Amino acid sequence: MSPISTRRHGEVLIVTSNNPPVNALGHAVREGLVRAMDEADGDDAVKAVVIICEGNTFFAGADITEFGKPMQMPMLPMVVDRIESCTKPVVAAIHGTAFGGGLEVALASHYRVAVPSAKLGVPEVKLGLLPGAGGTQRLPRIAGVQKALEMATSGNPIGAKEAYEIGLVDRLIEGDLEQHAVAYAAEVMDTRPLPKSSERDDKLHEARDNPAIFDEFRKANARKFRGFEAPESNIRAIEAAGRLPYSQGVMEERRLFMELMSGTQARAQQYFFFAERKASKIEGLAEDTRPRDIRRVGVIGAGTMGGGISMNFLSAGIPVTIVEMAEEALDRGTGTMRKNYEATAAKGRMTAAQVEQAMGLLRPTLDFGALADCDLIIEAVFENMDVKKDVFGRLDKIAKPGAILASNTSYLNIDEIAAATSRPEDVLGLHFFSPANVMKLLEVVRGAKTAPDVLLTAMQLAKKIRKVAVVAGVCFGFIGNRMLIPRQTQANKLLLEGATPEQIDRVHVEFGMPMGPFQMADLAGVDIGWHRDPNRIENIRDKLCAMGRWGQKKGAGFYDYDEKRRPSPSPVVAELIDEFRARAGVQSREVTDQEIVERTLYTMVNEAAKILEEGVAQRASDIDVVWVYGYGWPVYRGGPMFWADTEGLPEILGGLQRQQERLGPDFSLSDLLVRKAEAGEKFTR
Ligand code: 3HC
Ligand code: NAI
Repeated sequence: MSPISTRRHGEVLIVTSNNPPVNALGHAVREGLVRAMDEADGDDAVKAVVIICEGNTFFAGADITEFGKPMQMPMLPMVVDRIESCTKPVVAAIHGTAFGGGLEVALASHYRVAVPSAKLGVPEVKLGLLPGAGGTQRLPRIAGVQKALEMATSGNPIGAKEAYEIGLVDRLIEGDLEQHAVAYAAEVMDTRPLPKSSERDDKLHEARDNPAIFDEFRKANARKFRGFEAPESNIRAIEAAGRLPYSQGVMEERRLFMELMSGTQARAQQYFFFAERKASKIEGLAEDTRPRDIRRVGVIGAGTMGGGISMNFLSAGIPVTIVEMAEEALDRGTGTMRKNYEATAAKGRMTAAQVEQAMGLLRPTLDFGALADCDLIIEAVFENMDVKKDVFGRLDKIAKPGAILASNTSYLNIDEIAAATSRPEDVLGLHFFSPANVMKLLEVVRGAKTAPDVLLTAMQLAKKIRKVAVVAGVCFGFIGNRMLIPRQTQANKLLLEGATPEQIDRVHVEFGMPMGPFQMADLAGVDIGWHRDPNRIENIRDKLCAMGRWGQKKGAGFYDYDEKRRPSPSPVVAELIDEFRARAGVQSREVTDQEIVERTLYTMVNEAAKILEEGVAQRASDIDVVWVYGYGWPVYRGGPMFWADTEGLPEILGGLQRQQERLGPDFSLSDLLVRKAEAGEKFTR
């Protein structure tokens, strides 16, 4: 049965789409829409048309699952043109999300009405694409060039109210959408000529009068667009709208669209769209597993992490009890939380009332016993096994039966922590990333005895607090931090062999990472995990720590910093490296950028393969989700596993074998990597 059905209400033809879950514009939908337009044109009794969707949303875009397969006619650009060429006025009735191809259908309709909660956007750029069904030509004609540039290159939607204010929506509908849309259609049924967005050019003058608008936009956003191909193509297509007549503009749009579609970045970003959605699925979970009810959350420790973790729940309307050891630490922690909320409010992303509402849900206390009524308790105290065991032992006596007990540990063994309680089935790791109120990633660490419903609760709760959660198994550093180890080991070795911190960081930044290993160390604190004995100097880092060069916070680390925290190469560090090199008896040599890639990035892939074969990650794509959301791996490279597949596993293996001697005796190849490379297989497909 076709997902598109039609029925009459008086002289209005109501065209309804029913294609769950998101009314994606798959082949049958496209075909149905064309048929409906033919029906409207062919029936004299029809005076107007309403296009509306059942379920949660208006068309949320093209069907991404069809990408990469042979396209079936009619293609979306033809469908939208057919809608615009309908001889009766077409009204798009929007609720939920009119995204991508969905917005393009609405733009081709002669009129648009929407409920106030609707969102309108062109997220194609997030899939490495551009709105390729006339969107880059019609959107600037209706919303204006500047707005179109912003929407197309960010991919972020706007609300219906803003859309109404800028003329993208003709009427906001309070009440029953279909009923009001039909009434609106009746109002406009005799209007001629029909307003066609492709024929408008009043809003294009913005660009025609000031062609510099495009270069200014490029310049203002250069940092954000770094490395990505799709934003530039979106800009060029919109530029074409200002320069060319519609019929030529769409041809330029098509050319740019096809160019992007056949590129690696689009494949990587589309892969990542599904990877992110797959990550929330727990392998082998019994269907009848039900989550536990989480009404109040407890957090132990109001330091860097505890405060940020608490804010996630407060922002989602979930009350938090936060416990500290001393009044001063508690006040400092809650003070920081308030300051962070107020900074968000100052940027206009929150109202003062919302700040008070969130802070009003916080119950700060020094009384450990106050955790007794919490359904989930997250420990974020010092990274020390004895301290953690002591905390969990005490929690065991206080927490109510069925409460979930979680640790935010970065590296420590969750099973050992769980063993400090009489209820290891209720214990798991919830590894947030810093700053915890900002970073999207949450590693949910499943212990040997963690109950399935505990795991499910954590995964569902993550969604509520707008995190992307990935299941990890117990091992040192779980998925993300474990992969940092070979990278850092090799980066340190490379310094001694002749590379500089600047060269290694540059290679990583050019690859697309937000920063390199030494920039990251300076930002996070060179002293993190330091043994704190200034007389015990075994490596360059020990020496930097002993010298008080703890990174940005001290104005010096691997780099020197000025008063504005701008880095410059440090002669002191260069001298130090020379000293250590001489002491180790290593001869300095020229290190190529390619060697840096092979020794710091290929080794990460190798570690990831071990993580996969040990079952620490459920699937290769989860590792990619961890690295994109936790460490800023460029999404246009898909993540370390997808990237390895695009490089070719034989190439990765070959690179590692070439470097084997330099990698050192502690390095070993992953069996899985070797097997897959030899069999011509991939990790992600
Ligand atoms: N095509 C195919 N499947 C889609 C889809 C799409 N466009 N959008 C969502 N889905 C699927 C998801 O994969 C998921 O499947 P699953 O249940 O099997 O995992 C299911 O629909 C529900 O999606 P979400 O879990 O994301 O549901 P939410 O309610 O959280 O979000 C949404 C809904 C806001 C619509 C979100 O899914 C979304 O942003 N989708 C993508 C929209 C998009 O990118 N549109 C542009 C497509 S490209 C295009 O239109 C090209 C054109 O210009 C030519
Ligand atoms: P922190 O030192 O900033 O905060 C720890 C807080 O816990 C301190 O305020 C301390 O007073 C309090 N505390 C210690 N013992 C306590 C107890 N028995 N009862 C109540 N409060 C107690 O440390 P941070 O950085 O917040 O780290 C906390 C945990 O989170 C560690 O396990 C760490 O490995 C992990 N983590 C840290 C990340 C980071 O980037 N800082 C990232 C992810 C995890």
